[in-house]
Amino acid sequence: MRNIDAKGHVTGQSLYVDDLPTWEGTLYGVVFYATVAHATLQQLDTSRARALPGVIDILTAKDIPGENQIGGILPDEELFASNEVHFQGQPIGLIVATSEAIAKKARQLISVDYQEKEVITDPRDAQTKGRLIFPPRTFSMGNTKQAWAACAYTVQGRADVNGQEHLYIETQGAYAYPMENGHIKISSSTQGPTAVQRTTARVLGVPMHTIEVDVVRLGGGFGGKEDQATPWAVMAALAAQKWSAPVKLILHRMDDMRMTGKRHPYSADYKLGLSSDLKMIAYEVVFYQNAGAAADLSPAVMERTLFHATNAYYIPNVVATAYSCKTNLPPNTAFRGFGGPQGMFVIEAAIAHAAHTLQVPKEKIQEANLLVKGNSFPYGQKITDNGLKTAWQQMQEKFALEDVKKSIVAYNQTHSTTKKGYALMPICFGISFTKTPMNQARALVHIYSDGSVGISTGAVEMGQGVNTKMIQVAAHVFDLPAHYIKLETTNTTRVANTSPTAASATADLNGKALEKACKTLLTRLKTCAANHLQTQPQNISLKQGQVWIKDKATAMDWSQLIEHAFLDRICLTENGHYATPVIHYNKTQEKGHPFAYHVMGLALTEVTVDCLRGTYHFDAVKIVHDFGKSMNMHVDRGQIEGGLVQGMGWMTLEELRYDPEGKLLSNSLSTYKVPDVYSAPEHIYIMSLPTQSTEMALLKSKAVGEPPLMYGIGAYFAIEHAISAFNPSYVPIQNAPFTHEKVLLSLYETGV
Ligand code: MTE
Ligand code: HPA
Ligand code: MOS
Repeated sequence: MRNIDAKGHVTGQSLYVDDLPTWEGTLYGVVFYATVAHATLQQLDTSRARALPGVIDILTAKDIPGENQIGGILPDEELFASNEVHFQGQPIGLIVATSEAIAKKARQLISVDYQEKEVITDPRDAQTKGRLIFPPRTFSMGNTKQAWAACAYTVQGRADVNGQEHLYIETQGAYAYPMENGHIKISSSTQGPTAVQRTTARVLGVPMHTIEVDVVRLGGGFGGKEDQATPWAVMAALAAQKWSAPVKLILHRMDDMRMTGKRHPYSADYKLGLSSDLKMIAYEVVFYQNAGAAADLSPAVMERTLFHATNAYYIPNVVATAYSCKTNLPPNTAFRGFGGPQGMFVIEAAIAHAAHTLQVPKEKIQEANLLVKGNSFPYGQKITDNGLKTAWQQMQEKFALEDVKKSIVAYNQTHSTTKKGYALMPICFGISFTKTPMNQARALVHIYSDGSVGISTGAVEMGQGVNTKMIQVAAHVFDLPAHYIKLETTNTTRVANTSPTAASATADLNGKALEKACKTLLTRLKTCAANHLQTQPQNISLKQGQVWIKDKATAMDWSQLIEHAFLDRICLTENGHYATPVIHYNKTQEKGHPFAYHVMGLALTEVTVDCLRGTYHFDAVKIVHDFGKSMNMHVDRGQIEGGLVQGMGWMTLEELRYDPEGKLLSNSLSTYKVPDVYSAPEHIYIMSLPTQSTEMALLKSKAVGEPPLMYGIGAYFAIEHAISAFNPSYVPIQNAPFTHEKVLLSLYETGV
């Protein structure tokens, strides 16, 4: 089935928040925010701004009727700073005016006196000073202390990996309209409609049922709208409540970049021990997560880093510790992979270090240590198949790994100013929210009396194709053509208490709830058909919109069946609820079975580096990926290509930069470069890994949203490999992204 949004997107008809029809009397909000990173607020003078014609109000902490608190996991973040600001870009107030232009003008007329305090931007610095978001956590297995003695080689070092701007094409925004009796409806560009509803209710001091949140779709979220879509919706609702008027708040790109958090930068210290036959025996790692000025989702992100600290490898002795460090940067947040990619980069850097020291190809160490069926992760769960080994074999057989390596060696022998490099990147990513209670979802199905079907779930469409998959599920269970099914917007009044659309688990969770609801309706309909056709329900089946008795089509079609059911007063509406079975986790012991299953795969990245300029281009990325039994190859391939290139951007071009005062320097599209079609690999080949898949995945189709991003890590090590071919004294810099500038320096660095 083709993605149901394809036509709307290419013709420009798809609706986003700012495209929704505007109500008469709509007011516009612009956020006034801190321009220093750490200070007490001395005096706020809004009088000149208020005097500007068209300015209705300037809302600050004093105007909040409920709690001035938006923290999701920990209550440590104010909607509007009351006494202190903790990062540049922290909201202080909302200017409400009759137009956005007036509100922007008014913003320049506000003055604040700050009494500045010490600014910390480095996570190690914060950790030394005891500035942590919450206490550190440690995952361990075996006994590293004893294991070091048995190691033939050990390497020890530091690895740093920078953050990443989400750069969703649709910036953050919301539109709030007052309804009857003080109720408020909010159209929000959020991955978490329930989070918006809950937090709005908290800040406005009203019960949740007075707030309705509706989401049509997002122009991208990538994790950036899991938690951080909330404040803008709350601010719009606050103004709508106070002024009984519709209020729209859409962030300008540069405001969005300044005010919102990003992927967490991490710094890490590692020690890796290997046996003489290159088995990894012991691994100790300490992560310093740069959380920014408030918790946001950092505790959960940090946890996922620990879960993925050993990536796709079996290491019997592990100690992994992580600190969530409080700095004066915007609170960092979810981003595709959710901390997993950072953990994986560090182990890959440690392996690269060992390979460099021992002068063996990196992939020899990788291959020798792949997880096999029955191996335990440090958190106790066991791997259930040999997917990684199979992926490696497929890479050799189908993508002729050895030939690629030979041709690269040959190329490098005959070229002196350009060099080629390659890297292999295996991935193993756990599917489920790491917080077990979040793994639940609901769906609501109406069959209308003419036979058409309307479905609602808690899933939010953000480009990943989940709406298409939901329609496929209903069409599959009822065996109807897809045009019978309509997917409704995501709305808190139809599906309540939703988990955010995140963790790659949306299709699994919502799809399974939907499948259950549809199956219940189907059972009811079969009984109805059996009554009318004077047979037993077990003889009835529905095929292509027709009712069958055993292997014979009857004269009754779907619409006639629905008409019978309606006249027989049979309920044509059903609610489905799904909660992932099996999973559990004990945080005291740091052991359990947190994931429904793992997604595995292997990527081969090939690059050519221009050794005079430090520039590079990617010749090809070849991927063997574990789709399970894909329910939509078009959608899933799109996720792999997009995830891969986004991951490559993080590892290469995208350079997030703050100055020592916590000011974002890369705050526009001219200073922050994401991959475009020219920097994407010339070829992306994707092959399906033959696996049994799992019943835990929706129709055995495994989650695909986040895992491919981590194939992008191969880009970093492919570049490093090419640099080594040019500069024999190159010493791994262990510092991502590998920008052109860093490549140029590394090509000529002599290692002193
Ligand atoms: N794909 C597109 N086009 N746009 C997005 O915002 N978000 C990613 C991924 N793929 C995203 C995307 C992230 S961070 C996640 S968690 C998953 O989609 C969420 O959707 P899923 O659970 O349906 O895979
Ligand atoms: N993944 C993504 N988002 C989340 C998670 C997770 O494990 N937990 C809370 N939000
Ligand atoms: Mo994705 S980072 O779980 O929104």
